[in-house]
Amino acid sequence: MEDRKFKNQLTVRPETKEEYAAIRQLIQEAFDPMPFSAGKEWQLVEAIRTSDGYIPGLALVAELDGKIIGHIMVSEVAIDGKNSMIPALILSPVSVLPQFQRKGIGQVLCRKAVEEASKTDYPVMIVIGDPNYYSRFGFQPAVPQGVYLPFGFEEEYLQLIPLRDGVLEKVSGAIQFPPWFFDARGELL
Ligand SMILES: CC(C)(COP(=O)(O)OP(=O)(O)OC[C@H]1O[C@@H](n2cnc3c(N)ncnc32)[C@H](O)[C@@H]1OP(=O)(O)O)[C@@H](O)C(=O)NCCC(=O)NCCS
Repeated sequence: MEDRKFKNQLTVRPETKEEYAAIRQLIQEAFDPMPFSAGKEWQLVEAIRTSDGYIPGLALVAELDGKIIGHIMVSEVAIDGKNSMIPALILSPVSVLPQFQRKGIGQVLCRKAVEEASKTDYPVMIVIGDPNYYSRFGFQPAVPQGVYLPFGFEEEYLQLIPLRDGVLEKVSGAIQFPPWFFDARGELL
């Protein structure tokens, strides 16, 4: 009950320039306890912002009582189809301040990202993450659809969501990450 009230006061809207410093801190705090994290997610967000792949209306914050408590970034990648490069969206990363986790904020952010992504012309949105979490938003395994990563990975973690009916038969190939997804050593951020 408390959670429901809490969500009612939550605003999800596009990020603004004035919030970049707060968002950096939020991403650092969210990922810091995660054993899989190299602490570079904020760098990815900032690299995307200055790139051609940045889509202002798809970088969202969750605000509660004037405080930014969550953030989600959706940006452009490409899928190397047989005859052409297919522009696609990728959801990465999503962050909620530790003290606000497990209260539904991440789900509100992900649902809003899917809703906004569905208004674009992109055929699919990709995510790399736990299927137990992302399947609830409509993400499904990507590899059976013929969409894969150009390097070794745990197959079930790669998922996609079709953003319009009938697009899946037209989308297959290796995901091409643009240069801003890599650090100076060539590792994915
Ligand atoms: C992952 C994250 C964004 C989820 O946001 P949240 O507001 O805590 O999650 P919600 O309250 O919306 O959802 C809770 C559900 O997510 C699950 N969940 C939370 N974090 C999870 C994770 N890292 N992996 C899998 N499931 C997770 C919970 O078990 C819970 O599932 P249930 O509803 O079946 O019980 C948030 O925990 C976070 O910022 N984590 C650190 C950064 C991170 O790992 N980001 C994701 C990788 S890009």
